[in-house]
Amino acid sequence: MCFTYHNEELFAEGVSLHKLAQEVGTPFYCYSSDKLARNFQAYQNALKEFNNTICYSVKANPNLGVLRTLARLGCGADVVSAGEMYVALKAGIPADKIVFSGVGKTREELTQAIKNQILQINAESVAEVETINRIAIDLGLKANVAIRVNPDVDALTHVKITTGKKENKFGVDWDDAYHLYRAASRMPGIRLAGIAVHIGSQLLDLQPFRFAFTKIAQMVRDLEKEGIVLENIDLGGGLGINYNVELPPTCEAYADVVRETLGDLHKHIIVEPGRSIAGNMGILVAEVLYTKQMGEKNFIIIDAGMNDLVRPAMYDAWHTILPVARRGTAPIIADVVGPICESGDIFAKDRIIEPVQQGELLAIMCAGAYGAAMSSIYNFRPLVPEVLVNGEEFCVVRRRTSYEEMLSGQSVPQWL
Ligand code: LLP
Repeated sequence: MCFTYHNEELFAEGVSLHKLAQEVGTPFYCYSSDKLARNFQAYQNALKEFNNTICYSVKANPNLGVLRTLARLGCGADVVSAGEMYVALKAGIPADKIVFSGVGKTREELTQAIKNQILQINAESVAEVETINRIAIDLGLKANVAIRVNPDVDALTHVKITTGKKENKFGVDWDDAYHLYRAASRMPGIRLAGIAVHIGSQLLDLQPFRFAFTKIAQMVRDLEKEGIVLENIDLGGGLGINYNVELPPTCEAYADVVRETLGDLHKHIIVEPGRSIAGNMGILVAEVLYTKQMGEKNFIIIDAGMNDLVRPAMYDAWHTILPVARRGTAPIIADVVGPICESGDIFAKDRIIEPVQQGELLAIMCAGAYGAAMSSIYNFRPLVPEVLVNGEEFCVVRRRTSYEEMLSGQSVPQWL
């Protein structure tokens, strides 16, 4: 098991979190290789009847150790910048398993993608397809292109992570997509490789997927009638995870929807899961700096801040918080807050939690996806270490940044 108590002390696989805290200091992220692998394998098993590529969404957690673990298992990558493409390739993910998504790719980024001959570029506008065509012609190459269509489906998730509605900035409008496919099929720099859709993140209901995939199947059939035959159907990411009391669909149930809606097309299925691969394999461990009471309210002030994990501040996201040393004492109600000078720097409000004391450790659970990935040096706080555990062994896969590193690249103007 990945994060479990042994003698009332929380371990990451076979490694004591107290020991890790002594080794690397707090706060730090800790990842379980085993959980990471099992999350990937859940998709692999569920989708094995389809010709498929699982393109892990690098944005969820771009750590090299995480990516290398997945690369070893045969995983591909969904990238949204040339930077992510660079790190995915560095991790050993082959170019022909990389898809490139995003509404605003630069010419430089597209050039890199075309030169690398990646599996497909998911283009999101007429202007982007035309730009890809021109770059490819100049390079004397053909770019593998899919068109990301906007199915106008409500993903029934948080408004900030909904992407498949007409009013969102993503994808090509449904009706325009037909015209764009026809136009692109005549462009000499373009090889039409597929179709792509992504309707949102943290989906807990399969129905929006069913709607979107059904629409995609229809478009694929319609295009085939016109002689435009696509190989790849990229279904995007989006299976949710259990942060608190959610009941996310299983990979098998998801595969059932794929079979039901797209099975008879016999295409190469691409999926881009991020959160459901990296989310629950990671935790953020922080030390209690102070506790205080103000009137009726209890505050637990920890050394991690919203710069280390922004999800609660940004999306009001729930993350379960556990004491690393469990005592079983009667819980109190407290706010767990960070040290940053913003009222939004709060990990949990009015949380029922075991009382903890100064110097004790807390584990913020399910922080492997969009945790370290979204961290910043706000308040000039160093990026925290990331530790990858594998059974009894562990490796600091990113060390804490030093002040020198944080200042590197800055300079004082000569007039000062
Ligand atoms: N593919 C595309 C094109 C995406 O935009 C995303 C996520 C994914 C795949 C992966 O989705 P997932 O499987 O992780 O749901 N920062 C937010 C989540 C933003 C998701 C953005 N796009 C959060 O912390 O909840």
